[in-house]
Parts: sequence; C-alpha cells; structure tokens
Amino acid sequence: MPNAVFLGLGHYLPEKVVSNNDLAKVMDTSDEWIQQRTGIQTRHYVDFDNNPMGASDLACKAAQRALDNANVAKEDIDLIIYATLSPDRFFPGDAVFVQSKLDIPSGVPALDIRNQCSGFIYGLNIANAFIRGGQYEKILLIGSEVHSTGLDFSDRGRDVAVIFGDGAAAAVLGASDATDRGVLTVNMHADGRYAEELHCPYPSSAEMPRLTPQALEEGRHYPFMNGKNVFKHAVSKMPQAVQEALAEADLSTEDIKLLIPHQANLRIAEMVQRKLRLKDEQVFNNIQKYGNTTAASIPLALSEAVEEGRLESGDLLCLTAFGAGFTWGAALIRW
Ligand code: ACO
Repeated sequence: MPNAVFLGLGHYLPEKVVSNNDLAKVMDTSDEWIQQRTGIQTRHYVDFDNNPMGASDLACKAAQRALDNANVAKEDIDLIIYATLSPDRFFPGDAVFVQSKLDIPSGVPALDIRNQCSGFIYGLNIANAFIRGGQYEKILLIGSEVHSTGLDFSDRGRDVAVIFGDGAAAAVLGASDATDRGVLTVNMHADGRYAEELHCPYPSSAEMPRLTPQALEEGRHYPFMNGKNVFKHAVSKMPQAVQEALAEADLSTEDIKLLIPHQANLRIAEMVQRKLRLKDEQVFNNIQKYGNTTAASIPLALSEAVEEGRLESGDLLCLTAFGAGFTWGAALIRW
C-alpha cells in the first residue's frame, strides 16, 4: 500500500496589510484588546479597489507555488480537493474554477469540502485514503479564504471581524513506496449540536427568498460566533485529537518535532500547547501576522515552517484543527 507524502507546499497572501489600529479607525476596538485576547497584530485583505480577487484566485496562486515547489506538472494532478468557507459562488464550488484557471486537464475530478477550520485535516484524510487505496497518485489539496468581504466592520461585528484574515495555501500530495515517511494517521470528528455556535445563516436555501432585506438589515449574512463556547471546546478537542493520533501511531508528545495547531487565536494555541506539555520550539504559530484564515491556516503555517527550515526528513509533524460545526481532528506525518 503506498504512503501519502507531501511533495510540495505553497502559500499566497493578498498584499494589503491591515493593522489593529487600522480596524480601530472604523470600529470601537483597540490594538491592546485585540492583542491581549487573540495575539493578532496584522492580517491581510484583498485590495478590492485596486486588485479584486476571490478565494479561487488566491487558491490558484498558492496552488501554482505548491506545484512549482513540488516540481509536479499540472497535467500530473489527478484530483483537486478544495476546502473553504468563503467560495466565490453559491455553486459550483471553487475547485472547478481552480481547475479551469490553472488549466488542469478536463476530466480531472474537483472536490469541494465545507469543513471550515478543519477543512485541511478533513481534506488530508480524504487525500490519504485515495492515495493509500491506489485510486489517485497526485492530489492538489487547497485551503483558501476571502473573509474580508463577509465581515461586519461596524461595532456590532467587532468580536468576529478582528479575528479573520484572507489567505490561501496548498499542498501537493503524492503516492510513495517509501515506508519511512508520509501520513501516519489522521482523525476527524464533528458534533453538529454546536452548528449554530459559529455560523453564517444567510443566504439560506431553507428560506424564500434566500436573502431578504430584513436579514441584511439585521446583519444575518455575517458570521455569528459564541466566542466563549468556541474557546472552551477548541482547547479540549484539539489536545484530545492529538492524543488520539499519538495513541494510534504508538507515539508520545515527546516524539513531536513540530505541532501546527489551527491558527484560531494565539490564546487557544497556547492553551493547547500547555495541555500537551509541549515546549515552545515544538509549536509553530503565525496568527500574529495573518489572523485566522480558517481552511488556509494550517497549510499556510506549514508552508512557512518548511520555508523556515523547521522540518527535516524523519521529523514527526503533528497538525490539529478545530472549527465551525463543530468539527475537529488531528494528523501525524513523518516528514
Ligand atoms: N474590541 C473591543 N472590545 C470588544 C471586541 C473588540 N473587537 N469584541 C468584543 N468586545 C467587548 C465585548 O463587547 C465585551 O464588552 P462588555 O464587557 O462591555 O460586554 C468585552 O469585550 C468582553 O467580551 P467577551 O466576549 O467576554 O470577550 P472574551 O474575553 O470572551 O474574548 C474572544 C472574545 C476573543 C472572541 C474570545 O471569546 C475567543 O477568543 N474565542 C474564540 C474565538 C475564536 O478563536 N474563533 C475562531 C476559532 S473557530 C474558527 O476558526 C472557525
């Protein structure tokens, strides 16, 4: 049975950098409040005045870099998996736009998944299963988000708006006969009882019309988050998922070279680190620069960590995510 290995990674961030002080000019917030609660200093937004882009455009740039770094031709990709909560359109999903914009050959399947911050872990599990099962050999796995067009920048939305940023990242996964590296295990979980703790209710196919002036007026097309409950569940579910993965692979936290937690909030990542008793050098965070980029956050951090030389061949990499749904999971990879 082949192993799924990472052949290359790439990321892309739109150029406009928005500081906490920039946000404080349009809503009642402060650099101090945002840094204290979330650790975030800046985030990137698409510059809609000068260079408008949708999530699929960001995705293409990240995917092209991942293909280049992997030295894999687009003609060799035999499945696209695309994770986002901010697709360009209600339908079709973004994966087909990436396919056509990047000229990935006609006939290659394009699979969209909707698992928010856990999208990359869910996508990795799917990619791993297809590769191990022998159905596909080279898979392009993308996480991409444009949040900035969907946030409420009035005081009403300040608890959510300050957290999220735009960005994309991608990985090329390939089948390998090597037995000493690759994806060791992935777990994924969900608990739909909490679906409305972090959600965006409109537009909704359960209502006619799908978006009303009243819903717009009430801001129900913006994300709603019960921050305290998200926090509480995130700091318990991510460590649980990591422990489950370690037990599955018969390994322990001391074996982890690098943990990349979903970049939800620096305070959440710090608590996950404490619960797992990991040293600072075992954990990688970059939310300070980019905010929470949901489905893009884990591959974006992984791509940067690799660029910074934080992983060497044979190292044990651990990824863990928690997000809307609630959904969560973890993965172990022998680099
Ligand atoms: N600036 C200034 N004040 C604010 C802001 C803001 N941006 N947002 C809220 N406040 C105010 C509130 O109105 C409240 O004021 P009040 O006391 O006068 O009523 C006060 O700050 C405290 O609000 P809380 O909601 O109690 O603040 P809390 O300490 O819980 O922090 C936060 C809020 C940061 C959202 C926190 O709950 C949290 O981090 N939750 C996790 C959120 C998260 O990470 N979400 C993303 C993960 S899931 C995913 O990635 C999809």
